[in-house]
Amino acid sequence: MPESRPRPRNAADLPDGCLGGATVAVRADFNVPLTTAGEVADPARVARAVPTIGDLVEANAKVVILSHLGRPGGREDPAFTLEPVSRLLDDLLPAPVRFVPCAAGRQVTAAVDAAAPGSVLLLENTRFLPGETANSPELAADWAAWADHFVMDAFGTAHRAHASTDGLPRAVRAKGGEAVAGRLLERELAVFRDTLRNPRRPFVAVLGGAKISGKIGVIEALLPRVDALLAGGAMANTFFRAMGMETGASLVETGKTGVAARLLRAAGAGLVLPVDCVTAPGIAPGARTRVVDRSGIAPDEAAGDVGPVTVRLFGEYLAEAATVVWNGPMGVFETEEFSRGTVGIARAAADAADAGAAVIVGGGDSAAAVRSAGVAARITHVSTGGGAALDLLAGRELPGVAALSDRR
Ligand code: 3PG
Repeated sequence: MPESRPRPRNAADLPDGCLGGATVAVRADFNVPLTTAGEVADPARVARAVPTIGDLVEANAKVVILSHLGRPGGREDPAFTLEPVSRLLDDLLPAPVRFVPCAAGRQVTAAVDAAAPGSVLLLENTRFLPGETANSPELAADWAAWADHFVMDAFGTAHRAHASTDGLPRAVRAKGGEAVAGRLLERELAVFRDTLRNPRRPFVAVLGGAKISGKIGVIEALLPRVDALLAGGAMANTFFRAMGMETGASLVETGKTGVAARLLRAAGAGLVLPVDCVTAPGIAPGARTRVVDRSGIAPDEAAGDVGPVTVRLFGEYLAEAATVVWNGPMGVFETEEFSRGTVGIARAAADAADAGAAVIVGGGDSAAAVRSAGVAARITHVSTGGGAALDLLAGRELPGVAALSDRR
């Protein structure tokens, strides 16, 4: 990750007593999956925000939490309300959590004024307001009017320059407040910094997911630094097409085959592709699948997962590795028929961690895969970030970190 600027300050750097009685805006990432019954389906991200909020409550601050959920497009949409998160947070925290059913404006100001020190408010989804993703200065100023300090703990959203991740911390600093990193953000940054700066070798990266386009920067940044980059998921299909192979009806980014060919030439033996795959006439539950050599995909079939020989091959690299970074599933793992590759890599990654390797898993799908494979507790670090983790791996600065006060 870039070393061009000092590390951001964290709450522990603040002078004693500066939090007691102060109103602290906390940006959390509560972008969590909800069940059809409207409950939080995966509490991991909410649970990981609890230590920072708990510290602030203990310091007797008035804690006001902001988060987005989903992409409601700047309009109120009950399907994306944070109310279920508020109920979960209330269960997880010793202090009661009050949900404020709007994200900014007079109702929020009144709720903040009425709140006692040591209490917690959760505002409604910031993306119900068009100014959030537009990074509106007016919206940032509205929040900064009641915020004495700002704590950034939304690692998963730190790659977005939005009003709550960029405008608000800058507005708080402009009025003399502090904008600092929370415990979750600090830990995430430290893990990626330490791993990437001086990885123990062999250093192996596993990249998957549907698209090569979002990962070109990461592949380019990692290739010179890793001993092997293992590429799975539908991304591999674009490499296959660039190699002139039949990919049938598989997902291929046809506009990216030129880039894929260039990456293949530059990478040489460092880029390892699947050798077999699981195919079907269509990628759907109950599909009739075949395991074929990668050169055996039929014109009317699509590849939906890596095959067992690939799982063994990738597993051998992981067994040798001292540092592993994994981002992106190996197939359409939410569909049982195409889940075995991802589950196999999750188990191999956990075995590598048991054998002493530092294993970092990032990205919502890969994190969900290690949880559903029951191996999350064995992984060295399961990151709460997907896009943010990828940007760090690509060496980019995160706007939500750049907006914070520097450690002096
Ligand atoms: C995530 O889940 O990756 C973050 O919450 C960011 O969400 P976004 O991609 O909708 O900005």
